[in-house]
Order: sequence, then C-alpha cells, then structure tokens
Amino acid sequence: MDNNQYKLAIVGATGLVGRTALKVLEEKNLPISEYVFFASSHSSGKELVFQNKTYIVRELTESSFDEGFDFAIFSAGSDTAKKYAPIAAAHGCIVVDNSSAFRMEKNVPLVVPEVNPEEIKNNHGIIANPNCSTIQAVVPLKALDNKYHITRVVYSTYQAVSGAGRLGLEDLENGAKGIPPKKFAHPIYNNCLPHIDVFLENGYTKEEEKMINETRKILKRPGLKVTATCVRVPVTNSHSESINVEFEKPFELEEIRETLSNYPGIVLLDNVSKNEYPLATIASGHDEVYVGRIRRDESVENGLNLWVVADNIRKGAASNAIQIVEKLIEYDM
Ligand SMILES: NC(=O)c1ccc[n+]([C@@H]2O[C@H](COP(=O)([O-])OP(=O)(O)OC[C@H]3O[C@@H](n4cnc5c(N)ncnc54)[C@H](OP(=O)(O)O)[C@@H]3O)[C@@H](O)[C@H]2O)c1
Repeated sequence: MDNNQYKLAIVGATGLVGRTALKVLEEKNLPISEYVFFASSHSSGKELVFQNKTYIVRELTESSFDEGFDFAIFSAGSDTAKKYAPIAAAHGCIVVDNSSAFRMEKNVPLVVPEVNPEEIKNNHGIIANPNCSTIQAVVPLKALDNKYHITRVVYSTYQAVSGAGRLGLEDLENGAKGIPPKKFAHPIYNNCLPHIDVFLENGYTKEEEKMINETRKILKRPGLKVTATCVRVPVTNSHSESINVEFEKPFELEEIRETLSNYPGIVLLDNVSKNEYPLATIASGHDEVYVGRIRRDESVENGLNLWVVADNIRKGAASNAIQIVEKLIEYDM
C-alpha cells in the first residue's frame, strides 16, 4: 500500500466521540488522503469542517462500504456496529469499534496500544476499543502487573456525564435549570448516581461487568479477582477512578512511582505537599492517563491505592481508536 493513500471512514462523525476523533485527527499527521463521514439519516446532509475543508455527512447504509475503505472508526453505538461493522469488514475494511458490541468476542482483539498492541495483528476485520473506564485503568495496571503481578483489583469510578454522549451532557446542563433528565434515571445535577448502563441479575451494572471482564481480557488474566462500583458524577468531562490493587510481590512506593512515570502514556501527578493530584479539569483535552494519590493500602499485605484520571472522550474513546489505526498503518495491515 502506497503511504498516503489510506482511506478512512468515521461512522458516528456527528457524535461526541466522532467529533473528538476529527479533532484528534487534525492534531496528528496520519498518512490518510481520503475521509468519509457517516451518521444516521437524522444528520445526513449536515456539514462538518475538517482540516479547513467542508464535508457533507452521509447516511450510513448497507452499501456505504462498497466504494472500499482501508479503515473505519465506528462510534455509533452497539446496534449500528452489530449491523454495519461486519459489512465493512466483509469489504476488506478494518473496523475499530468504540461500542461494546464485539469486545468480549474471542476473535476480536480488545486493544489499548500502551498495553497489548500485538493483539492488533490477530484481527479478522474488527478490533474493539475497550470501555472508557477500562482503558484508563489498565494502563497503570499493566505497568504494575509486569513487575509485581496483580492478584486483586477493586475499582470505584467517578464518571463524567460526557460518557453518556450528547444526552448526558444535556441532562447536567438542564438539571441546573430544574429540567427533568432524559438520559439518566434520576437528576445528575447535585447527585452521584451509582448506576451506569443497565442492572444485571447479580445486582451489578453492565458498566461494572464490562470493567471486570475487559480488564481480564486485556491483561490476559482470565482468573484475576476484580470488582467494581461505577458511579456517574456531575462532572462534564474526564473520568476519575479510585483503584485498589493487591500484588503477589512486595514493593517500595518509590519504585511504583518510577515504574508508572516511565510507562508510556502515563503522567504522574503526585505531590500532596503542594495539593497536586490528578483532576478531571487537568486531564480534559489530553491523551495521557494521570496517576496520583499513590499510597499503601495498609489493611493488607502488598496493597496499593491509586487515583487515576483521563479524558473519557479522548483516551477513553477517540484517541485510543486513532492510536490503533496508527498501529495498523505501522504494521502495514
Ligand atoms: N462518550 C464516551 O465517553 C464514550 C467512551 C467510549 C465509548 N463510547 C461509545 O462510542 C459510541 C458513541 O458515543 P457518543 O458519546 O459519541 O454518542 P453520541 O454523542 O450520542 O453520538 C452518537 C453518534 O452515532 C450516530 N448514529 C446513531 N445511530 C446511527 C445509525 N443508525 N447509523 C449511523 N450513525 C448513527 C449519531 O448520528 P446522528 O447525528 O445522525 O444521530 C452520532 O453521530 C457509543 O457506542 C459509546 O458507547 C463513548
């Protein structure tokens, strides 16, 4: 393939993740010469300005991929992905999908480029982008697992409303004016909602189940003990997470700090004497995972607490997907 001749489709280009993907692509210099932007019939015909050029959004249909694409980034929900990603793949296009449709399928790599880039080579036309809260968690966990071997993880998340798309943002804005929610089960304004995605039979939410299963798949640790409580908080953008982790091997805190700060994609922000720790407003607009509040869990042997913050739309979705496309180009796939 001639470098500079790649053709990329963005499906869901008008959504929060899709628009951010355009922004991230504008910041990078990928060897892509042709872009096509798709959405539902609702947005078909709308104009999008990208790299100083005006593009017309096209309606996604079963024949959209007939013209041939090298890659497609799908950010249009599970139903759209289930219907159209296999059609795209059958036409020789490699799909990077942001929804949960294929993440746990055996033949679909679930990839965070800082953690398991080699999995990209095992794709059969579809690569899944993990859940936003999982992506930012597994980056520091992988750095530490390599060295100390993790035996248990306890996640408590504080997730921004942008994680629920445009409607999530509207619920927070409208809630401040006393308008009832459309996306969430209760007003998010002035509340923390321990409820992300649907409830399952065992009392967990699907978001919690995703974090548990995806962590095991990405770290290649099927039996790893993981539990999660996922909470939506009235923050516009960037998810924060408390991660409690236990290791097989003993550690020194200074070694942990060094390991994390040397790992790709991590910014260490951990100076409590100056009140410095990761914040949503610090992470927003960036692709790195911010880690701080590093301290021992003194209630167990070899236990550690971390506070981990990242931009859920960028690293949690758009930027991770684009990093995967960069790897596909690098691997000449
Ligand atoms: N927000 C996050 O933090 C985040 C993080 C990780 C993953 N994700 C995943 O990324 C996906 C998009 O999320 P979002 O937050 O960007 O949602 P969003 O703001 O609601 O945008 C949804 C996008 O999907 C398009 N779409 C809907 N139905 C379609 C159809 N039948 N055919 C083609 N396009 C269709 C919409 O187009 P119209 O303009 O025509 O409606 C819009 O462009 C979801 O699967 C979500 O789970 C989101």
